[in-house]
Amino acid sequence: MSDTLALPRYNDAIIKKFVIATIFWGVVAFLVGVVIASQLAWPEMNLGLSFTNFGRLRPVHTSAAIFAFGGSALFGTSFYIVQRTCRVRLFGGEAIANFIFWGYQFFIVMAALSYVMGFSQGQEYAEPEWHLDLWLTVVWVTYAVVFIGTVLKREEPHIYVANWFFMAFILTIAVLHLGNNIAMPVSLFTAKSYNIASGVQNAMIQWWYGHNAVGFFLTAGFLGMMYYFIPKASGRPVYSYRISIVHFWSLVFMYIWAGPHHLHWTALPDWTQTLGMAFSIMLWMPSWGGMINGIMTLSGAWDKLRTDPGLRFSVTAVGFYGMATFEGPVMSIRDVNALSHYTDWGIGHVHSGALGWVAFITFGAMYYLVPVLWKREDLYSRKLASWHFWISTLGIVLYITSMWVAGIMQGLMWRAYDQFGFLQYSFAESVNAVHPYYVIRLLGGVLFLTGMLIMVYNLIMTVWSPSTDKRVTMPAGVALAGE
Ligand code: HEM
Ligand code: HEM
Repeated sequence: MSDTLALPRYNDAIIKKFVIATIFWGVVAFLVGVVIASQLAWPEMNLGLSFTNFGRLRPVHTSAAIFAFGGSALFGTSFYIVQRTCRVRLFGGEAIANFIFWGYQFFIVMAALSYVMGFSQGQEYAEPEWHLDLWLTVVWVTYAVVFIGTVLKREEPHIYVANWFFMAFILTIAVLHLGNNIAMPVSLFTAKSYNIASGVQNAMIQWWYGHNAVGFFLTAGFLGMMYYFIPKASGRPVYSYRISIVHFWSLVFMYIWAGPHHLHWTALPDWTQTLGMAFSIMLWMPSWGGMINGIMTLSGAWDKLRTDPGLRFSVTAVGFYGMATFEGPVMSIRDVNALSHYTDWGIGHVHSGALGWVAFITFGAMYYLVPVLWKREDLYSRKLASWHFWISTLGIVLYITSMWVAGIMQGLMWRAYDQFGFLQYSFAESVNAVHPYYVIRLLGGVLFLTGMLIMVYNLIMTVWSPSTDKRVTMPAGVALAGE
């Protein structure tokens, strides 16, 4: 997997574009996250305007975080990794790669604008109306063709495990997107449609989609990143290639059945809920197998954690992955879910995965990629990257612990009865009780955003520092930028 000059020239221009988009959308997503967190703490922050109210900005946050930030990171890293591990240039040429980039960015901007203007299908993580769904289908199929085309024309006999995860991500998201968006438009010129399924069938299809958006968008693709960047940055081979294969097949087989855990205690038949619960509990095993494989890859190179802040992000991300995938199976147990569902415990779980796993593994990849792509010796400042790490970690801790406390308190308050059998607390009392925790969550979000801004500064300065090529001609002893 070494990147030497003898290798064919790769299409790195497209990766640079996705890296810039990832960083840009990260700032937008976290900023909107901070805004909606402040709205939950102080409703006046809705500003009394329809397009800035919580209901419209919330999907802007989730889509910007998952699809814009996470998605751009996945496109960029998958294109980087597939070229390096297959030792060929991207299939399909510049124009097609650029179409994927601009087509996807267009989709994101249009989706965000449509939410702000009040258009929505009303299905979580699948809010865009049918025109945009069709557009995304074209872009996504092109992505699949370019990625799989590159794998097919590879010059390596072997398909590296990261590419298996990326392919599962690309194919499954295509199927989910098509399955969950079969809708009847009201008319050709109206951004309004009705899903073909209704009632509990609609809910089941939606959560088959929703959970697998977690399993394949927020997990499988990012595992692809893990399997490339941790070995690369630590200079160690994957701890067990055998585990990685078992990890892959068991994960993709089990995830697809777990959706019903979002619909416990609903009109969904009991057997379906039990099936979802059973698969969710089983999912703990492949998830932890993968986590152990990622972390143990560092065997013999643990010292690098002290000097390489990018690697520190990646490895901590794998730790958070382990935490979220332990918590998820616990929450999928029906009796636990009776307490956790509808509460902020869910929000805490989401963000231990989203901030700790998805965002951290992406930061690790960005710290690795920017100096490599822009041909710089090193980051502008490792110390600033270290600051980013600690500030964001503190932000995550504040975010998730406050949400656990708030969530469990809400759950307990809603089920408390007095000696006459009446509910002990009104709903408004539970809203009042969580206020301090919402303020702590906001503080956590502000810290996380601050860390991100430090990264932006550090990466811009890295790009602006003299390139490696120039440095070769510098007299010995000339200090490199930063540290
Ligand atoms: C500064 C960082 C962030 C802050 C302050 C933040 C804040 C929030 C807030 C306030 C909500 C609404 C909670 C509610 O409705 O009760 C939310 C929801 C959500 N956020 Fe974030 N967020 C951040 C980063 C992220 C990231 C990086 C991701 C994904 C990669 C993400 C994914 C989500 C998702 C999926 C939901 C919906 C959860 C659900 O419906 O259960 N967030 N976020
Ligand atoms: C073994 C792995 C996992 C299992 C079994 C699992 C299980 C669960 C359960 C039971 C819920 C609550 C459903 C409800 O009460 O409505 C949930 C919600 C959620 N989880 Fe996980 N989880 C896992 C891993 C993850 C990871 C790694 C992430 C993020 C990267 C994540 C993101 C989410 C999101 C976004 C939701 C909120 C969905 C919504 O209501 O909008 N999960 N998960």
